[in-house]
Amino acid sequence: MSKEMFKISRREFLKDAGLVVGGATVGSAALLSACGNKDKKGETKYICPIDSKEFSSLKDLKDHYASAHEGQAIPAFKTLNVNGVDYNLVINDYWSLGWVLREQLGLYGTKIGCDMGQCGACTVLVDDKPVYSCLLFACEMEGKRIRTVEGLSDGITLSPLQQRFYDNNATQCGFCTAGFLMAATALIEKKSKPTNDEVRSALSGHLCMCQNFKKTLESVVGGV
Ligand code: FES
Ligand code: FES
Repeated sequence: MSKEMFKISRREFLKDAGLVVGGATVGSAALLSACGNKDKKGETKYICPIDSKEFSSLKDLKDHYASAHEGQAIPAFKTLNVNGVDYNLVINDYWSLGWVLREQLGLYGTKIGCDMGQCGACTVLVDDKPVYSCLLFACEMEGKRIRTVEGLSDGITLSPLQQRFYDNNATQCGFCTAGFLMAATALIEKKSKPTNDEVRSALSGHLCMCQNFKKTLESVVGGV
């Protein structure tokens, strides 16, 4: 499944990222071929990453690029699978997965706390394993299955674990909650009825500044 690219001005994006530099266009066919996105009518449109002009075919875009932007390097287009949706994105090499999830995809459920691998607030699942998204490069996530807290529910019904957190008042300010939920989800998917020690171990990489650890642990121990 493909989803229309979020409304980001690629020109600003590229300028900001400093990606438009002189150089060869080696591999441009492969890169350009990845930038087709469907519009609201379901028609695929090809958008020039430099000046945002739209074209109805890849050939037209390539012709335009060759004539209008000769000698310019082409940025990397990547496809990230997040919560079962493929997103075609322009990704700079040094952007973290957490930053891309929030600022590119608008998935603000993932929180960035310390941004240095110490608090666990940014935890998401990559191929079913909990990881700190602040420490991973988004450009290396192609081909992996990324899940965020938004993917736990269907948008109406909370997942059983989310419901348990809610019923148990396991959140206060809520800043850490998404990270705890993702780590706990990974644990419960592996072991449906985790013990107290197993939960403590699985959640040990998470901090709650509101000190709500007791209720959080109680929400996970024994499974859902
Ligand atoms: S924001 Fe990633 S571990 Fe704190
Ligand atoms: S509920 Fe506030 S940081 Fe955990």
